[in-house]
Amino acid sequence: MGAKQKKKMGLVMKLLLLTFGGGMLLAVGGYGFVEVKYSSKIDETFEQPVTALEIPEGSSSAIERGNYLVNNMMGCSHSDCHRADLGGGVLMDEPPMGMVYAPNLTAGAGSVTKEYTGEDWARILRHGIKKNKQRAVIMPSEDYTSFSDGDLAAAVAYIKSMPAIDRETRAHDPGFLLRALIATGEIPFAHDKIDHNAERPNAEPGPTAEWGKVVAGTCSGCHGQGFSGGKIPGGDPSWPEARNISPDEATGIGSWTFEQFEQALRHGKRPDGTELNKAMPWQMYAGMTDDDVKAIWEYLRTVPAKPAGGR
Ligand code: HEC
Repeated sequence: MGAKQKKKMGLVMKLLLLTFGGGMLLAVGGYGFVEVKYSSKIDETFEQPVTALEIPEGSSSAIERGNYLVNNMMGCSHSDCHRADLGGGVLMDEPPMGMVYAPNLTAGAGSVTKEYTGEDWARILRHGIKKNKQRAVIMPSEDYTSFSDGDLAAAVAYIKSMPAIDRETRAHDPGFLLRALIATGEIPFAHDKIDHNAERPNAEPGPTAEWGKVVAGTCSGCHGQGFSGGKIPGGDPSWPEARNISPDEATGIGSWTFEQFEQALRHGKRPDGTELNKAMPWQMYAGMTDDDVKAIWEYLRTVPAKPAGGR
């Protein structure tokens, strides 16, 4: 090898080392950033002033209302969340997202809510803050802020009426990707999305757009606050994007009839006959009252049409 060639090789080696070393530095720096930022966000505590929910424990009418809200509207018992028995379970467990666990809400061993007071229930449901003052992850508290104190208290009365299930609540074991998404704010906490001083809609249940605005709050966690759909933040990576349910003619449900909407919501079938993925919890909505389905439809027709994916 001539001197010139040697020099050239040395240069290539130097460049390689620089690139490799630079990449390593970036990777280590990025890793460090994620770990520090993730921990500080998860550990941060909040003093959240609340108005306590007055829970009508044992009232049969409240429990009946709560049963409907929890199982047909709020989605607490939806397949992969707190489970039909509300004893909790694994929400997702796949690398690189890692394991997220929906806790046990019954009074059994392993419960996280056994000692919850009316204040604690208000703090988690209205503001996304746990009893330990930290922000809950993945839990879609923002979906419930439009409901009245009476309805939320009824939901809690129902939860408290459920048989105690002894099932340990496992600690989350988030993978690097989930930690990175939380560290960078790609998956925001419900607490950050909620307007904590917003006036609550004062609507009475009925087939009206006003009541629909309350109920459709539970669609927004997946379909977005503008209802135009897109990737569901914090959703299982295997889920399809939520569809556009704003009145956009081209990509939304602007040209649908009420019957077609009801068919999709209750039976999981689009107007063209294709089936909706189970990520869209239509089995839960199958049991929704006619008035509530109509109310959501009426309300969705009043929201601004948006192209798909803008959320
Ligand atoms: C847990 C997430 C989730 C919630 C909550 C949810 N959806 Fe969906 N929805 C989806 C996903 C995902 C799809 C797309 C399914 C597919 O493409 O197969 C979808 C599809 C739909 C469709 C079909 C649209 C089309 O063009 O095919 C309608 C209608 C719909 N949702 C209405 C609602 C309404 C109304 C609510 C609230 C009462 C709601 N959804 C709540 C996830 C959700």
